[in-house]
Amino acid sequence: MEAVDPDFIQAPEHRPKPDVTEAEGIPLIDLSPVNSPESDADALARLVAEIGDACKNWGFFQVINHGVPSHIRERIELASKEFFALPKEEKKKVSRNEINLFGYSDFEITKSVRDWKEVFDCTIENPTVIYASDEPDDEELKELTNQWPEYPPELRQVEVCEVYAAEMQKLTYKLLALIASSLGLPKDRLHGFFKNQTSFMRLNYYPACPAPQLALGLGRHKDAGAMTILAQDDVGGLEVKRKSDGEWIFVKPTPDAYIVNVGDLIQVWSNDKYESVEHRVTVNSQKERFSIPFFINPSHSVWVEPLTELVDEQTPAKYKGYSWGKFYATRKLSNFKKLTTENIQVLFNGTVLIEPSRTIPCVLPSRSRIPSFQFCWNDADALFYEHFVLIHGSGHGAWCWYKLVALLRSSGHDVTALDMAASGINLQHVLDVPTISNYFRPLMDFMGSIPTREKVILVAHSSGGLAVSRAMERFPDKISVSVFVTALMPGTSLNISTLSQEDWSLATVLVRPVYLYTEEDMSRALVLSSKKYGSVSRVYIITDEDKVARKELQQWMIRQNPPDEVVEIKGSDHMVMMSRPNELFDVLLLIAQNYS
Ligand code: OGA
Ligand code: NI
Repeated sequence: MEAVDPDFIQAPEHRPKPDVTEAEGIPLIDLSPVNSPESDADALARLVAEIGDACKNWGFFQVINHGVPSHIRERIELASKEFFALPKEEKKKVSRNEINLFGYSDFEITKSVRDWKEVFDCTIENPTVIYASDEPDDEELKELTNQWPEYPPELRQVEVCEVYAAEMQKLTYKLLALIASSLGLPKDRLHGFFKNQTSFMRLNYYPACPAPQLALGLGRHKDAGAMTILAQDDVGGLEVKRKSDGEWIFVKPTPDAYIVNVGDLIQVWSNDKYESVEHRVTVNSQKERFSIPFFINPSHSVWVEPLTELVDEQTPAKYKGYSWGKFYATRKLSNFKKLTTENIQVLFNGTVLIEPSRTIPCVLPSRSRIPSFQFCWNDADALFYEHFVLIHGSGHGAWCWYKLVALLRSSGHDVTALDMAASGINLQHVLDVPTISNYFRPLMDFMGSIPTREKVILVAHSSGGLAVSRAMERFPDKISVSVFVTALMPGTSLNISTLSQEDWSLATVLVRPVYLYTEEDMSRALVLSSKKYGSVSRVYIITDEDKVARKELQQWMIRQNPPDEVVEIKGSDHMVMMSRPNELFDVLLLIAQNYS
């Protein structure tokens, strides 16, 4: 096997399985009833029911007799092959960049791992209007147009991309009508969202890959827009995560069919009736593969929220509203944002870094070169805003997080920075907080008040790790991930008395006095079980120039109680939220994206 750049290597649990299930595939739906004038009402009703079932049970289906003439598809497929066969330098002449957000790229990243693919993007509305910035209150707009390669000349000709796009649009409105009907809505209920749409089309090229068992053509993701219509060739590689059991199911190519999937917007509009489903693309050591997704996106001005007709007292809205245009601008522009992450080394992503019996294998992909914000259209999971809850270390208070609070809020997330008892501006006196349970109380009360279906991300600094560990034991279902920032991290078999014997100085940076809790008290409050505490994902953030909790001490704790992932912030002292707020912010966003 030829060596493959480690940036492409997937964590073991995300690698393709050699024997994918081919058993029962995604539903195959015949669209003739909407394409033939003489079809009766019964046939149409059956079709609507079929579409509804497919959206509900799979989020994916294939359509045949869709009305798109096959020669129109063949023409664009041929032009795509000719384009990708060109030398790299030639293709790079139309690279995507800050000015031209559409064009060629051979650097796509999904969930922090490089995809084994090249793409060419073009937009549908000419020009496409989007927000000029991702700042929430900035209303300035800008216009995007396509850039076309010189070769093959066909690509820019109206008869190829434009004609294909026009056919896709016709199919789009038919599908939107069927989906709306299946939700019990008027068939044109969704149409209005697509006036001045931001839809775009992508030519995908997945070259043959020498290590198809390690890399993916496209990592697992959900599509962020309303719906995607995909043309795949006869090679195959698309896999869909089956909703019933989470198995990856191979989508067997059906000649001349289109694959349709529900995106995040339909999930929100339908208030979870139809969910956007994860999918990915495996690669092949022998054959290259081509596909053409058509991403159907609304206008930048659309405010996305569950449709009022689908919300009532029994089924309240499951999502807060958000601006599609701001989301889109953030995605498109962040691709080219100047990175602040140079000195962050994300050591490993998504899997256990250090198992007790295993040392770090040296083939681990070094993520240092991969910016966390590299734009990936597909990587849509950051769409749903997170709620971060920040827990300070002893002697400090909520105030110490002020820089991070501003950064997280400005990117649209909810943030709660809590004062523990007798800390910050909490009114209790330290002598009224004689047990560590009293000290934790503000966090426990807060966690108790969160609605059952909601999850938060807990972020602990320093001794705040104890409070967070206690919360993981009491409220494991309300936490999507706990982040320990140079924090104490007791575990099921690493109890607090062992930790205290290590020279972790709990009382180093006192701003308000702290009560020094007895070991006995702390051991009682921190009985941690694998069933509860252990069921919550954990990420540890090492601060490498920490004079309070030395790096060796942090590493020792990580070895004793291995988290799911370890990230290191270079050049950071103990108060990383003060000295390296941007880096910490970037890491938190990356974690939110990977664990929520
Ligand atoms: C996509 C996608 C699948 C494929 O580009 O979002 O899921 O088979 N593509 O190329
Ligand atoms: Ni996709």
